[in-house]
Amino acid sequence: MDLRGKIVLITGASSGIGAAAAREFVRAGADVALVARNAARLNELAKELDGAAHVFPADLGDPDEVVALAAEVKARLGVPDVIVNNAGAGRWLFVDESTPHDFRAMAAVPYLAAGYVTCAFAADMVRRGSGRIVVVNSPVSRATWPGAFGYAAARWGLRGLVNALRADLRGTGVGVTEVMPGKVSSDYFANNPGSEERVPAVSAIVPTVTPEQVARALVAATARDRRRVLLPLMLRAVAAQAWLAPRLTDWLMGATGAKRR
Ligand SMILES: NC(=O)c1ccc[n+]([C@@H]2O[C@H](COP(=O)([O-])OP(=O)(O)OC[C@H]3O[C@@H](n4cnc5c(N)ncnc54)[C@H](OP(=O)(O)O)[C@@H]3O)[C@@H](O)[C@H]2O)c1
Repeated sequence: MDLRGKIVLITGASSGIGAAAAREFVRAGADVALVARNAARLNELAKELDGAAHVFPADLGDPDEVVALAAEVKARLGVPDVIVNNAGAGRWLFVDESTPHDFRAMAAVPYLAAGYVTCAFAADMVRRGSGRIVVVNSPVSRATWPGAFGYAAARWGLRGLVNALRADLRGTGVGVTEVMPGKVSSDYFANNPGSEERVPAVSAIVPTVTPEQVARALVAATARDRRRVLLPLMLRAVAAQAWLAPRLTDWLMGATGAKRR
């Protein structure tokens, strides 16, 4: 897809990967719709992007807010050409540390939010016969580590969402791209305290990437209509191992992952 003049809606655009992706899409000639809860940070980014960005503050965990958001985006900008489902949060807790409310919060964003946002625009995109849905996912959707129950389940949910979208959108002209980075040097772990300590030791073999590296890979994958992009390269080896040797992968995650205190 030639990104020049296209409208790209990015969720979770107030920090990290989403903010870096907004800058990268604008560099590629697109206009961006920035979505997150923190309006001040979105406005700051929009100012930096100098006329190419439009701010839509919303809590994506609430389907009513997503319906209102979609109506406003369509009225102000039209139907987006690209939707980047990137907003995400979730503390890493063992199942027996989690309350039902924790579990609901971890499913709300990214999993349910990605579904809400995609449903809110899908009919228009299919009718138009073009577009791309991008989903930012985590390696936990391939290799599940302990001590991150709701987080891991939500990312497996996102993996299912990607597959179900591919099945439904086949032949419509609307493509689907899954972007999966390893550990990213964003504020994610500061925003979700107690999680970084639970990254399994074995994952130290995969170098940490920056939000800017993820953004460049995400925008390039969108422009080239790619189905999936994993980064850094080493993560492809981990995903291949999870595919070929799932029990060995489970063992490695358990042996080097978080232990109950
Ligand atoms: N960091 C990593 O190591 C890593 C690795 C693999 C995948 N990922 C995934 O990449 C995505 C982006 O993460 P990041 O690393 O850029 O983290 P981040 O800096 O914490 O950014 C998360 C973004 O999601 C937004 N968000 C959270 N809850 C929201 C809600 N209820 N409604 C609307 N927006 C909401 C936040 O904005 P507001 O607070 O302003 O709402 C923020 O813009 C996440 O889905 C994460 O799971 C991260």
